[in-house]
Amino acid sequence: MQKIELILQKRELSFDDIVRMLASSKEEAQLLFNKAYETMCRERGDKVYLRGLIEISNFCSKDCYYCGIRKSNNNVKRYIVTDEEVLESARYAYEHQYGSVVIQGGELSSPAWTERIEKIIREIKKIGDSSLGITLSLGEQDEETYRRWYEAGAHRYLLRIETTDRDLFAKIHPADGNHTFERRLEALYLLRKIGYQVGTGVMIGLPGQSLESLARDLLFMKEFDIDMCGMGPYIEHKETPMYAQRHLLLPPLERFFLSIKMVAILRLLMPDVNIAATTAMETLHPEGRALAFKAGANVVMPNITPLAYRENYLLYENKAGVLDDYEVARSKIISDIHKAGLKPGLSEWGDSLHYKRRTGK
Ligand code: 5AD
Repeated sequence: MQKIELILQKRELSFDDIVRMLASSKEEAQLLFNKAYETMCRERGDKVYLRGLIEISNFCSKDCYYCGIRKSNNNVKRYIVTDEEVLESARYAYEHQYGSVVIQGGELSSPAWTERIEKIIREIKKIGDSSLGITLSLGEQDEETYRRWYEAGAHRYLLRIETTDRDLFAKIHPADGNHTFERRLEALYLLRKIGYQVGTGVMIGLPGQSLESLARDLLFMKEFDIDMCGMGPYIEHKETPMYAQRHLLLPPLERFFLSIKMVAILRLLMPDVNIAATTAMETLHPEGRALAFKAGANVVMPNITPLAYRENYLLYENKAGVLDDYEVARSKIISDIHKAGLKPGLSEWGDSLHYKRRTGK
Protein backbone atom coordinates (compact mmCIF):
# COMPACT_ATOMS: atom_id res chain seq x y z
CA MET A 1 0.00 0.00 0.00
CA GLN A 2 1.22 3.47 -0.84
CA LYS A 3 2.21 5.68 2.04
CA ILE A 4 -0.13 8.60 2.77
CA GLU A 5 2.86 10.96 2.99
CA LEU A 6 3.66 10.21 -0.65
CA ILE A 7 0.10 10.65 -1.82
CA LEU A 8 -0.15 13.99 -0.03
CA GLN A 9 2.81 15.29 -2.04
CA LYS A 10 1.16 14.61 -5.37
CA ARG A 11 -0.24 17.44 -7.47
CA GLU A 12 -2.91 15.29 -9.13
CA LEU A 13 -4.86 12.80 -7.06
CA SER A 14 -6.04 9.65 -8.79
CA PHE A 15 -9.11 7.57 -8.00
CA ASP A 16 -6.89 5.05 -6.20
CA ASP A 17 -5.23 7.79 -4.16
CA ILE A 18 -8.63 9.02 -3.02
CA VAL A 19 -9.79 5.56 -2.01
CA ARG A 20 -6.53 5.07 -0.14
CA MET A 21 -7.04 8.35 1.74
CA LEU A 22 -10.61 7.44 2.61
CA ALA A 23 -9.30 4.19 4.06
CA SER A 24 -6.55 5.89 6.08
CA SER A 25 -5.95 5.08 9.74
CA LYS A 26 -6.49 7.69 12.45
CA GLU A 27 -2.82 8.71 12.45
CA GLU A 28 -2.67 8.90 8.67
CA ALA A 29 -5.90 10.87 8.55
CA GLN A 30 -4.32 13.50 10.80
CA LEU A 31 -1.71 14.13 8.10
CA LEU A 32 -4.50 14.45 5.57
CA PHE A 33 -6.39 16.94 7.77
CA ASN A 34 -3.25 19.01 8.34
CA LYS A 35 -2.55 19.19 4.64
CA ALA A 36 -6.16 20.18 3.87
CA TYR A 37 -6.13 22.86 6.59
CA GLU A 38 -2.88 24.29 5.25
CA THR A 39 -4.29 24.26 1.73
CA MET A 40 -7.43 26.06 2.86
CA CYS A 41 -5.50 28.77 4.71
CA ARG A 42 -3.18 29.30 1.77
CA GLU A 43 -5.75 29.26 -1.02
CA ARG A 44 -8.89 30.43 0.67
CA GLY A 45 -7.71 32.37 3.71
CA ASP A 46 -8.22 31.80 7.41
CA LYS A 47 -11.84 32.89 7.65
CA VAL A 48 -14.97 30.90 8.27
CA TYR A 49 -18.13 32.42 6.82
CA LEU A 50 -21.42 32.42 8.70
CA ARG A 51 -24.77 31.82 7.05
CA GLY A 52 -27.86 32.07 9.22
CA LEU A 53 -30.03 29.06 8.40
CA ILE A 54 -33.79 29.52 8.22
CA GLU A 55 -35.67 26.23 7.90
CA ILE A 56 -38.64 27.86 6.25
CA SER A 57 -40.96 24.87 5.87
CA ASN A 58 -41.07 21.13 6.39
CA PHE A 59 -43.80 20.40 3.86
CA CYS A 60 -42.26 18.09 1.29
CA SER A 61 -43.53 16.52 -1.89
CA LYS A 62 -40.68 14.00 -1.84
CA ASP A 63 -40.62 10.71 -0.03
CA CYS A 64 -36.91 9.93 0.32
CA TYR A 65 -36.38 6.73 2.31
CA TYR A 66 -33.78 8.32 4.62
CA CYS A 67 -35.39 11.62 5.53
CA GLY A 68 -37.44 12.35 8.65
CA ILE A 69 -39.65 14.94 6.96
CA ARG A 70 -40.56 12.71 4.01
CA LYS A 71 -44.08 13.11 2.75
CA SER A 72 -45.30 9.81 4.21
CA ASN A 73 -44.19 10.56 7.74
CA ASN A 74 -47.52 11.39 9.35
CA ASN A 75 -45.95 12.05 12.74
CA VAL A 76 -44.51 15.36 11.63
CA LYS A 77 -46.37 18.54 12.41
CA ARG A 78 -46.07 20.48 9.16
CA TYR A 79 -45.32 24.21 9.21
CA ILE A 80 -44.41 27.21 7.12
CA VAL A 81 -42.64 30.03 8.94
CA THR A 82 -44.56 33.28 8.48
CA ASP A 83 -43.00 35.86 6.18
CA GLU A 84 -42.66 38.30 9.07
CA GLU A 85 -40.79 35.70 11.15
CA VAL A 86 -38.46 34.93 8.25
CA LEU A 87 -37.67 38.62 8.00
CA GLU A 88 -37.13 38.86 11.75
CA SER A 89 -34.63 36.02 11.54
CA ALA A 90 -32.92 37.71 8.61
CA ARG A 91 -32.70 40.96 10.58
CA TYR A 92 -31.18 38.99 13.45
CA ALA A 93 -28.58 37.62 11.01
CA TYR A 94 -27.80 41.12 9.78
CA GLU A 95 -27.51 42.59 13.26
CA HIS A 96 -25.26 39.77 14.42
CA GLN A 97 -22.97 40.01 11.43
CA TYR A 98 -23.86 36.72 9.77
CA GLY A 99 -23.02 37.88 6.25
CA SER A 100 -25.64 35.68 4.57
CA VAL A 101 -28.78 33.71 5.15
CA VAL A 102 -29.73 30.29 3.83
CA ILE A 103 -33.38 29.58 3.17
CA GLN A 104 -33.89 25.86 3.30
CA GLY A 105 -37.05 23.82 3.20
CA GLY A 106 -38.75 20.68 2.04
CA GLU A 107 -39.49 20.54 -1.65
CA LEU A 108 -42.65 22.44 -2.62
CA SER A 109 -43.49 23.50 -6.14
CA SER A 110 -46.41 25.74 -6.97
CA PRO A 111 -46.93 29.20 -8.42
CA ALA A 112 -47.86 30.45 -4.95
CA TRP A 113 -44.67 29.07 -3.41
CA THR A 114 -42.51 30.52 -6.19
CA GLU A 115 -44.09 33.89 -5.60
CA ARG A 116 -43.89 33.74 -1.83
CA ILE A 117 -40.18 32.93 -1.87
CA GLU A 118 -39.57 35.59 -4.51
CA LYS A 119 -41.21 38.19 -2.30
CA ILE A 120 -39.25 37.09 0.74
CA ILE A 121 -35.98 37.33 -1.19
CA ARG A 122 -36.84 40.90 -2.24
CA GLU A 123 -37.67 41.82 1.35
CA ILE A 124 -34.48 40.29 2.71
CA LYS A 125 -32.54 42.28 0.13
CA LYS A 126 -33.93 45.51 1.58
CA ILE A 127 -32.34 44.78 4.96
CA GLY A 128 -29.27 46.96 5.42
CA ASP A 129 -29.44 47.96 1.77
CA SER A 130 -28.62 44.58 0.19
CA SER A 131 -26.24 43.66 2.97
CA LEU A 132 -27.14 39.99 3.21
CA GLY A 133 -26.08 37.29 0.78
CA ILE A 134 -28.85 34.78 0.06
CA THR A 135 -28.46 31.05 -0.48
CA LEU A 136 -31.46 28.90 -1.32
CA SER A 137 -31.91 25.21 -0.64
CA LEU A 138 -35.43 24.46 -1.80
CA GLY A 139 -35.03 21.40 -3.95
CA GLU A 140 -35.74 20.72 -7.60
CA GLN A 141 -37.67 23.46 -9.38
CA ASP A 142 -38.27 24.39 -13.00
CA GLU A 143 -36.07 26.84 -14.85
CA GLU A 144 -38.56 29.69 -14.59
CA THR A 145 -38.72 29.42 -10.80
CA TYR A 146 -34.96 29.23 -10.40
CA ARG A 147 -34.68 32.28 -12.66
CA ARG A 148 -37.24 34.33 -10.78
CA TRP A 149 -35.55 33.65 -7.48
CA TYR A 150 -32.16 34.53 -8.96
CA GLU A 151 -33.47 37.76 -10.40
CA ALA A 152 -35.02 38.61 -7.04
CA GLY A 153 -31.54 38.48 -5.49
CA ALA A 154 -30.65 34.94 -4.44
CA HIS A 155 -27.21 34.11 -5.74
CA ARG A 156 -26.29 30.71 -4.35
CA TYR A 157 -28.18 27.42 -4.43
CA LEU A 158 -27.55 24.17 -2.62
CA LEU A 159 -28.91 20.97 -4.07
CA ARG A 160 -27.30 17.74 -2.98
CA ILE A 161 -26.88 14.98 -5.49
CA GLU A 162 -27.02 12.66 -2.41
CA THR A 163 -24.91 9.96 -4.13
CA THR A 164 -23.59 9.65 -7.67
CA ASP A 165 -23.94 5.88 -7.55
CA ARG A 166 -27.06 5.36 -9.69
CA ASP A 167 -27.89 2.00 -8.08
CA LEU A 168 -27.57 3.36 -4.58
CA PHE A 169 -29.59 6.44 -5.55
CA ALA A 170 -32.35 4.14 -6.76
CA LYS A 171 -32.24 2.17 -3.51
CA ILE A 172 -32.66 5.19 -1.25
CA HIS A 173 -35.48 6.83 -3.21
CA PRO A 174 -38.92 5.63 -4.30
CA ALA A 175 -39.16 4.42 -7.90
CA ASP A 176 -42.12 6.65 -8.67
CA GLY A 177 -40.59 8.79 -11.39
CA ASN A 178 -40.49 11.76 -9.02
CA HIS A 179 -37.07 10.94 -7.57
CA THR A 180 -34.65 10.43 -10.42
CA PHE A 181 -30.92 10.97 -10.56
CA GLU A 182 -31.29 12.52 -14.02
CA ARG A 183 -33.74 15.17 -12.82
CA ARG A 184 -31.45 16.07 -9.95
CA LEU A 185 -28.49 16.43 -12.27
CA GLU A 186 -30.54 18.41 -14.76
CA ALA A 187 -31.53 20.82 -11.95
CA LEU A 188 -27.86 21.36 -11.10
CA TYR A 189 -27.13 22.25 -14.74
CA LEU A 190 -30.07 24.68 -14.81
CA LEU A 191 -28.83 26.43 -11.69
CA ARG A 192 -25.43 26.88 -13.21
CA LYS A 193 -26.85 28.10 -16.52
CA ILE A 194 -28.86 30.77 -14.72
CA GLY A 195 -25.76 32.02 -12.92
CA TYR A 196 -26.02 30.78 -9.36
CA GLN A 197 -23.02 29.72 -7.32
CA VAL A 198 -23.87 26.06 -7.26
CA GLY A 199 -23.40 23.81 -4.29
CA THR A 200 -23.95 20.10 -4.04
CA GLY A 201 -23.02 17.30 -1.72
CA VAL A 202 -23.65 13.75 -0.66
CA MET A 203 -24.58 11.71 2.38
CA ILE A 204 -21.72 9.72 3.81
CA GLY A 205 -21.95 6.26 5.31
CA LEU A 206 -25.21 5.20 3.67
CA PRO A 207 -25.98 1.48 3.93
CA GLY A 208 -24.28 -0.24 1.02
CA GLN A 209 -22.07 2.75 0.11
CA SER A 210 -18.43 1.82 -0.58
CA LEU A 211 -15.28 3.93 -0.33
CA GLU A 212 -15.02 3.60 -4.11
CA SER A 213 -18.47 5.08 -4.43
CA LEU A 214 -17.51 8.03 -2.20
CA ALA A 215 -14.33 8.54 -4.25
CA ARG A 216 -16.47 8.77 -7.37
CA ASP A 217 -18.69 11.33 -5.60
CA LEU A 218 -15.66 13.53 -5.01
CA LEU A 219 -14.48 13.17 -8.59
CA PHE A 220 -17.99 14.07 -9.76
CA MET A 221 -17.82 17.33 -7.78
CA LYS A 222 -14.50 18.14 -9.37
CA GLU A 223 -15.68 17.28 -12.85
CA PHE A 224 -18.96 19.17 -12.47
CA ASP A 225 -16.82 22.06 -11.23
CA ILE A 226 -18.99 22.90 -8.23
CA ASP A 227 -18.56 26.15 -6.31
CA MET A 228 -19.69 24.96 -2.90
CA CYS A 229 -20.24 21.76 -1.01
CA GLY A 230 -22.34 20.69 1.93
CA MET A 231 -22.01 17.05 2.84
CA GLY A 232 -22.33 15.07 6.00
CA PRO A 233 -22.88 11.71 7.57
CA TYR A 234 -26.12 9.85 7.01
CA ILE A 235 -27.93 9.53 10.34
CA GLU A 236 -30.81 7.14 10.88
CA HIS A 237 -34.36 8.25 11.71
CA LYS A 238 -36.87 5.86 13.27
CA GLU A 239 -39.81 6.94 11.16
CA THR A 240 -38.18 6.18 7.81
CA PRO A 241 -37.91 2.98 5.76
CA MET A 242 -34.10 3.04 5.88
CA TYR A 243 -34.16 2.62 9.65
CA ALA A 244 -34.54 -1.11 9.02
CA GLN A 245 -31.01 -1.15 7.59
CA ARG A 246 -29.31 0.46 10.55
CA HIS A 247 -27.39 -2.75 11.33
CA LEU A 248 -25.40 -2.10 8.16
CA LEU A 249 -24.08 1.28 9.29
CA LEU A 250 -20.60 2.19 10.45
CA PRO A 251 -20.48 3.19 14.13
CA PRO A 252 -21.24 6.94 14.52
CA LEU A 253 -17.67 8.03 15.22
CA GLU A 254 -16.34 6.18 12.20
CA ARG A 255 -19.06 7.73 10.07
CA PHE A 256 -18.03 11.11 11.41
CA PHE A 257 -14.35 10.61 10.63
CA LEU A 258 -15.17 9.34 7.17
CA SER A 259 -17.17 12.54 6.66
CA ILE A 260 -14.32 14.86 7.59
CA LYS A 261 -11.96 12.82 5.42
CA MET A 262 -14.34 13.62 2.57
CA VAL A 263 -14.08 17.32 3.46
CA ALA A 264 -10.29 17.18 3.55
CA ILE A 265 -9.96 15.35 0.25
CA LEU A 266 -12.36 17.74 -1.47
CA ARG A 267 -10.27 20.63 -0.13
CA LEU A 268 -7.21 19.08 -1.77
CA LEU A 269 -9.06 18.43 -5.03
CA MET A 270 -10.72 21.87 -5.14
CA PRO A 271 -8.74 24.32 -2.96
CA ASP A 272 -10.87 27.42 -3.68
CA VAL A 273 -14.43 26.12 -3.15
CA ASN A 274 -16.55 26.78 -0.06
CA ILE A 275 -17.12 23.72 2.10
CA ALA A 276 -19.57 23.63 5.01
CA ALA A 277 -19.15 22.12 8.42
CA THR A 278 -22.62 20.56 8.63
CA THR A 279 -25.04 20.01 11.49
CA ALA A 280 -24.97 16.25 10.90
CA MET A 281 -21.21 16.29 11.67
CA GLU A 282 -21.89 18.12 14.89
CA THR A 283 -24.55 15.57 15.75
CA LEU A 284 -22.16 12.60 15.61
CA HIS A 285 -19.24 14.21 17.45
CA PRO A 286 -19.29 16.81 20.26
CA GLU A 287 -16.37 18.63 18.64
CA GLY A 288 -17.64 17.96 15.14
CA ARG A 289 -17.70 21.52 13.97
CA ALA A 290 -14.21 22.50 15.10
CA LEU A 291 -12.78 19.24 13.71
CA ALA A 292 -14.45 19.92 10.36
CA PHE A 293 -12.81 23.38 10.24
CA LYS A 294 -9.48 21.74 11.00
CA ALA A 295 -10.05 19.38 8.10
CA GLY A 296 -10.70 22.18 5.60
CA ALA A 297 -14.30 23.41 6.03
CA ASN A 298 -14.75 27.19 5.82
CA VAL A 299 -18.51 27.77 6.09
CA VAL A 300 -20.94 27.20 8.93
CA MET A 301 -24.68 27.67 9.06
CA PRO A 302 -25.93 28.64 12.52
CA ASN A 303 -29.61 27.80 12.87
CA ILE A 304 -31.76 30.94 13.16
CA THR A 305 -35.12 29.26 12.61
CA PRO A 306 -37.62 30.53 15.21
CA LEU A 307 -37.42 28.06 18.12
CA ALA A 308 -41.10 27.09 17.98
CA TYR A 309 -40.59 25.31 14.64
CA ARG A 310 -37.29 23.60 15.21
CA GLU A 311 -38.50 20.29 16.60
CA ASN A 312 -40.45 19.75 13.42
CA TYR A 313 -37.45 19.95 11.13
CA LEU A 314 -35.72 16.73 12.10
CA LEU A 315 -34.23 15.10 9.03
CA TYR A 316 -32.49 12.63 11.35
CA GLU A 317 -32.35 11.80 15.05
CA ASN A 318 -30.59 13.65 17.87
CA LYS A 319 -29.99 16.67 15.66
CA ALA A 320 -27.46 18.94 17.36
CA GLY A 321 -28.48 22.29 18.80
CA VAL A 322 -32.18 21.95 18.07
CA LEU A 323 -33.25 24.00 21.06
CA ASP A 324 -30.11 26.10 21.50
CA ASP A 325 -30.67 29.68 22.38
CA TYR A 326 -29.50 31.98 19.55
CA GLU A 327 -26.86 33.74 21.61
CA VAL A 328 -25.43 30.57 23.10
CA ALA A 329 -25.24 28.99 19.66
CA ARG A 330 -23.57 32.08 18.27
CA SER A 331 -20.86 32.29 20.91
CA LYS A 332 -20.21 28.55 20.69
CA ILE A 333 -19.70 28.76 16.94
CA ILE A 334 -17.37 31.72 17.23
CA SER A 335 -15.39 29.93 19.91
CA ASP A 336 -15.16 26.79 17.72
CA ILE A 337 -13.82 28.93 14.87
CA HIS A 338 -11.14 30.38 17.14
CA LYS A 339 -10.37 26.93 18.55
CA ALA A 340 -9.57 25.83 15.02
CA GLY A 341 -7.14 28.76 14.66
CA LEU A 342 -9.44 30.64 12.27
CA LYS A 343 -11.44 33.89 12.29
CA PRO A 344 -15.13 34.49 11.70
CA GLY A 345 -15.75 36.42 8.45
CA LEU A 346 -18.16 38.85 10.08
CA SER A 347 -20.63 40.73 7.85
CA GLU A 348 -18.98 39.27 4.76
CA TRP A 349 -20.73 37.31 2.05
CA GLY A 350 -17.74 35.03 1.70
CA ASP A 351 -18.65 33.99 -1.82
CA SER A 352 -17.00 31.01 -3.42
CA LEU A 353 -13.63 32.07 -4.78
CA HIS A 354 -13.96 29.22 -7.23
CA TYR A 355 -17.08 30.85 -8.68
CA LYS A 356 -15.26 34.15 -9.13
CA ARG A 357 -12.42 32.45 -10.95
CA ARG A 358 -14.74 30.29 -13.00
CA THR A 359 -16.93 33.17 -14.18
CA GLY A 360 -14.61 36.16 -13.89
CA LYS A 361 -17.31 37.88 -11.75
N1 5AD B 1 -29.17 11.87 7.52
C1 5AD B 1 -28.30 12.80 7.05
N2 5AD B 1 -28.66 13.71 6.13
C2 5AD B 1 -29.93 13.71 5.70
N3 5AD B 1 -30.55 14.48 4.80
C3 5AD B 1 -31.83 14.09 4.72
N4 5AD B 1 -32.05 13.06 5.54
C4 5AD B 1 -30.87 12.80 6.16
C5 5AD B 1 -30.45 11.84 7.11
N5 5AD B 1 -31.28 10.92 7.60
C6 5AD B 1 -29.86 15.51 4.02
C7 5AD B 1 -30.00 15.24 2.53
C8 5AD B 1 -30.71 16.48 2.01
C9 5AD B 1 -30.38 17.49 3.06
C10 5AD B 1 -31.31 18.66 3.13
O1 5AD B 1 -30.42 16.77 4.26
O2 5AD B 1 -28.71 15.15 1.97
O3 5AD B 1 -30.27 16.90 0.75
